[in-house]
Amino acid sequence: MDSQPNSPEARDKKYHMHAYTNARRHEEVGPLIIEKGDGIYVEDISGKRYIEAMSGLWSVGVGFSEKRLVDAATRQMAKLPFYHNFTHKGHSPLVDLAEKLVTMAPVPMSKAFFTNSGSEANDTAMKMIWYRSNALGQPQRKKIISRKRAYHGVTIASASLTGLPNNHLSFDLPIANVLHTSSPHHWREALPGETEQQFSTRLADDLEKLILAEGPETIAAFFGEPVMGAGGVVVPPAGYWEKIQAVLQKYDILLVADEVICGFGRTGNMFGTETYAMRPDIMVMSKQISSSYLPISAMLINDKVYEPIADESNRIGTFGHGFTAGGHPVAAAVALENIAIIEERNLVDNAREVGAHMQKRLARIASHDLVGEVRGIALIGAMELVADKTTKAPWGAAGALGGLVNGLLQQNGVISRNMGDALAFCPPLIINDKQVDDIFDAVEKSLDEAARQVKA
Ligand SMILES: Cc1ncc(COP(=O)(O)O)c(C=O)c1O
Repeated sequence: MDSQPNSPEARDKKYHMHAYTNARRHEEVGPLIIEKGDGIYVEDISGKRYIEAMSGLWSVGVGFSEKRLVDAATRQMAKLPFYHNFTHKGHSPLVDLAEKLVTMAPVPMSKAFFTNSGSEANDTAMKMIWYRSNALGQPQRKKIISRKRAYHGVTIASASLTGLPNNHLSFDLPIANVLHTSSPHHWREALPGETEQQFSTRLADDLEKLILAEGPETIAAFFGEPVMGAGGVVVPPAGYWEKIQAVLQKYDILLVADEVICGFGRTGNMFGTETYAMRPDIMVMSKQISSSYLPISAMLINDKVYEPIADESNRIGTFGHGFTAGGHPVAAAVALENIAIIEERNLVDNAREVGAHMQKRLARIASHDLVGEVRGIALIGAMELVADKTTKAPWGAAGALGGLVNGLLQQNGVISRNMGDALAFCPPLIINDKQVDDIFDAVEKSLDEAARQVKA
């Protein structure tokens, strides 16, 4: 590929350090450079076409060639390419988007605050929660609980909320005041014979024990993704959110729903909050809010959060937080158009209906020798690869089989992502049944090829 010194691959290796990549390995293997996109497909620089079964990074809901989003961006770029919302200023796309988000929220919300990424939004949520505790005269209430295997981002605060070792190791994270409770993965974490309901009860007990050990008056908030994404697509076990929320309510602890992946249709409802009857005080959204055509993220806060913060900003003289590009007018215009498309084309219904077909195809591969578990809801799912279905033991080093199958799948024209030995599927919301079949035919073929290699 990169035998030519001036090829994009060679120049990439020379000049570009990649995110979430083993830098030394990249020096050997180089990049897969994607040149263009069309619907659920992308094409690499050599002209090979792939189904993007991850929607890029769980994000391109309306697909890779939506002209209405390009037009919305062009119109706004020509009219007002930049403005901000500091010091009482504003612009129409952001007013419209704030109103749209607050009024479409499935639980009562008061205000929208805008940032540029999921990480920034979670970081901001944490700062607002601390600010609020001070405003309420409870300076001791600063601890935040998230979960093992959670993913909330990579800034110093949001990476601390993330519960994955690779986001902490050698970064000197997590910071103080961030605690991680048990992960809700029944297949991996349940005791022998424990039902999902019993497992959920035990996790709620674990949470309560942690709160009591730390002192309930010191705990400010609990962060959770309705369905965990980057931790391997962990669907909550039966009764989980109901039992967790009962504990949070008992100790007056705020709930932050990180909707960065689940929001805008992924779980078959507009928000994961609806799918799991959650009652968050803060909702964090990004990715599918604009189908990631442009970076934008938002947090919705309810009155319980907004009112003390407003009072504190009045006492201090300002709310001393905001990003230059937070709520950028072009990104806001694209987000509005994107949400309009999701609503007009009933893409949430499509996620539920085609998602049901995807879950059937996932279920069909559960019997494969290399598959320990399949899991998912609507248009998000994963298969967990094992060498031994009974002991759940991996094949060699953890992640080796995931990497092998993911590589074979890519050769077979489907881009997935392996998180260790879990391979995730999160295709664009516009996908149809036939295209789901194309993905899973390739998955079955890749699993059979992997099984031959494992045997050999
Ligand atoms: C649930 C969740 N929260 C937060 C983030 C961080 O978002 P970003 O990468 O835009 O900072 C992600 C990214 O994958 C995510 O999946």
